[in-house]
Amino acid sequence: MTNSTTYLSAAQRRSFEDDGFLLIPDFKSPAEVAALRARAEQIVEEFDPETISIFSARDERAKSDEYFLTSGDKIRCFFEEEAFDESGALRQPKALSINKIGHAMHDLDPVFERFSHDPRLQAIANDLGLASPQLYQSMYIFKQPRIGGEVRWHQDATYFETEPITVTGFWFALERAGRDNGCLWVEPGGHHSPLRERFIVDERGGRMERRDGTPWPTESTARPLEVEEGALVVFSGLLPHYSAPNRSQKSRHAYTLHALDARSHYFADNWLKRNALPPRGFV
Ligand code: FE2
Repeated sequence: MTNSTTYLSAAQRRSFEDDGFLLIPDFKSPAEVAALRARAEQIVEEFDPETISIFSARDERAKSDEYFLTSGDKIRCFFEEEAFDESGALRQPKALSINKIGHAMHDLDPVFERFSHDPRLQAIANDLGLASPQLYQSMYIFKQPRIGGEVRWHQDATYFETEPITVTGFWFALERAGRDNGCLWVEPGGHHSPLRERFIVDERGGRMERRDGTPWPTESTARPLEVEEGALVVFSGLLPHYSAPNRSQKSRHAYTLHALDARSHYFADNWLKRNALPPRGFV
């Protein structure tokens, strides 16, 4: 759906074009953040790990791949890689062991739906050139205290390739994010660099393919995005970003949405298939 309302100033649009990202503090209210956090807590509470057979050492890899690859139109919980000790027991309570919830809460859960379908987001997407934004994916990321895993440098278009590339990330801080608890790092201007990798899922299974040899950013070109609860970071699908492991005592909850323009061609070998649950816009 197209609409003519604008949200961003000319300076904000220019800043996005130059840097590949835009930070908007205090975008979501404390009440909206609290509602999403409470609902996520409930989903984890109701999640019974025994219902998924990811604990058997044998075929573990294949089963967890299957669990992930078929989650595009569902609500599923995923464990932190370091959640289990050598004996297979949880190191921390379940509520402090989940890495993320994904990937269709914005369509299937009323609380997530309310948070995600926001006319202001539609206006921002329009301002950034997505005339007809469609929401493909939602993720609730916990970045748990002590064991919150690193997310290596990547570009989101690796997972959502379209022609032309239009995928845009909407990242909401549900808690303060600083260098101590694994905040986002970005490379300002890095969205002008080529797509380095492509994650392909076809009849042969899932695999990462190298597309371009451009190196990932270094400490000297990367910038940490330290933000307060309620902040929104919008970023280009070509912007390299990263987050360090969380070794602190504090979690770093965040929520992300990925939208792309319906006018761009969605590749059938992208991992996320939304055939059974067609994607919708922000409004
Ligand atoms: Fe990402």
